[in-house]
Amino acid sequence: MCGIFGAVAREGDVSGALLEGLRRLEYRGYDSAGLAVVTTRGDLEVRRAEGRLAALAARLRESSFGGSASVGIGHTRWATHGAPVERNAHPHRDCGGELVVVHNGIIENYLDLRRDLAARGHRFASETDTEVLAHLVEENLKAGAGGPADAGALARAVHVSLAGVRGAYALVVLSRSHPHTLVAARADVPLCLGLARDATYCASDVPAFLDRTREVIFLHNGEVAEITAGGYALRRLEGERVERAPTRIDWDAAAVERGGYPHFMLKEIHEQPDVLAAAAFDRLDEARGDVRFEDPLFDDDERWRKVSRIDLVACGSALHAGFVGRFYFERLARLPAQADFASEYRYRAPLPADGALFLAISQSGETADTLGAAREAARRGLPVAAIVNAVGSTLWREAHGVVGTHAGPEVGVAATKTFLAQLVALYLLAIRAGRARGALTVEQGRSRIHDLRALRAHLGALLEGQTRAAIARIAEREKDAKGFLFLGRGLQYPIALEGALKLKEISYLHAEGYPAGEMKHGPIALVEKALPVVALATSSPLLEKTFTNMQEVRARGGKLIAICSRGEAAASEVADEVLEVPAVPEDLAPLVNVIPLQLLAYEIARLRGCDIDMPRNLAKSVTVE
Ligand code: F6R
Repeated sequence: MCGIFGAVAREGDVSGALLEGLRRLEYRGYDSAGLAVVTTRGDLEVRRAEGRLAALAARLRESSFGGSASVGIGHTRWATHGAPVERNAHPHRDCGGELVVVHNGIIENYLDLRRDLAARGHRFASETDTEVLAHLVEENLKAGAGGPADAGALARAVHVSLAGVRGAYALVVLSRSHPHTLVAARADVPLCLGLARDATYCASDVPAFLDRTREVIFLHNGEVAEITAGGYALRRLEGERVERAPTRIDWDAAAVERGGYPHFMLKEIHEQPDVLAAAAFDRLDEARGDVRFEDPLFDDDERWRKVSRIDLVACGSALHAGFVGRFYFERLARLPAQADFASEYRYRAPLPADGALFLAISQSGETADTLGAAREAARRGLPVAAIVNAVGSTLWREAHGVVGTHAGPEVGVAATKTFLAQLVALYLLAIRAGRARGALTVEQGRSRIHDLRALRAHLGALLEGQTRAAIARIAEREKDAKGFLFLGRGLQYPIALEGALKLKEISYLHAEGYPAGEMKHGPIALVEKALPVVALATSSPLLEKTFTNMQEVRARGGKLIAICSRGEAAASEVADEVLEVPAVPEDLAPLVNVIPLQLLAYEIARLRGCDIDMPRNLAKSVTVE
């Protein structure tokens, strides 16, 4: 939700770097965008535009900055307070045009602050919560000692201002009178610094500067950074100095480019065979029929034996992965498991159980509800484990144990490869738990590891085979359907949910995922020719029951598209259209079956002319409740 980016260079002009950084952060919000720089002439100049970054780039071409600038900040907005129009676009200014602020998050007490500031004569130009920050810093900069020569004055003004601010924020301040410094601060919203030889960057997320440096400092909550071209100084809000060694990020810079694909989503779908390998293969221990994790929390057999229940908690696609994970833990480790929406779990006051393990799942590691639920679980004394993709994110740091999914940066707003990586991580954890608890023998562990290794080739074959052409045909025919129903049983029910979510979010078609056996209790009333029904009907002990449910759809004139295992003849008799997928062991079918559903959503969204990588109203990382 909102991307912020700042740069201070020793020399040269940073406006190109700012625009490029924002381009890489645009997945975080795209309601409006803006830039501010201090030019070598000493002017503080701001350009903002409603809509996508392209509109800001056009604005800059019409009206370029009046000189080169070695310091600047930028923002791409996902609107919370105030309509997505130019006057609400960041950066926001103080009264005197002395300084500007970009912000991601929500200032909860902004109405009180705004009233007090207005009573003291401040004039507001927007409806945003952010603008109070600019006026607060303005006041405290004026009140504080020291002029332009006092390098620390801006940071002190930010420290004093934040003492009265309640809420979540990552912010960066740029002042005309301190043109060699940016001041950044963080509370509950991600912010990191990139340390290059000739410049320092700050951004909401690492990909913003990955082409310039891999040396990253992740800010912690309650920290303020004073950033110069030569480095940074970090302090806690209370004033004490903090020292922290940089983390080296080994993601490939090319991973944040489209690499010849028309959309990031399509590229990320195609990366899935490699993501499977990256998430799993180095962790597989064939000799022991077991899995080894980097984090010692998961290697302790005694600990696993004492776990009495797993609480899987997440949002959106990550929760759908959690629903699959529940089956894995129950089947492979004979361990009771439940999966819940983070936004519900955190306020439900779940009953504590002796030996319960909380397991959060999150691509970004910054989702506000997932973090809130994890903190609530920790407060109740539960050990908190997490499956996370974004290295160094808040969840990554706060969890007692982490399984990294190693999927690399995901830029498309709709989760695809990270969903698959979450399924892999859950499968591996369930094998580990099963081995530690004696629910799986060495042989059984080995056989599951073998299946997982073999899966890479199956995923590759699926992506290269005929399925894409069949999906394109179905998409062409159904692109204007009134909606879709996705049905599945057992392990396939969460995949039905995921298929429906993908379609909804990128094509804006209504879609529902439903347990196939439950359909007759209501949704069957929807069945008619104009509502395509996608049935997940791959090999499983429940297949005959799924066929029965498909017959029920067919008998009512419904149009059936079936996802079937190769060689499964019966399906073609029931379904109007069959999408064949490689036959794999039932427990791994979710990793296979989700791919045609991702492609179906992609093709329909493309034909409907939707913005696939940046669907309306959404943002990649949901840092507000
Ligand atoms: C859907 C999607 C979202 C996320 C959800 C959680 O395609 O991407 O539903 O899965 O917002 O995000 P993370 O995994 O970052 O916690």
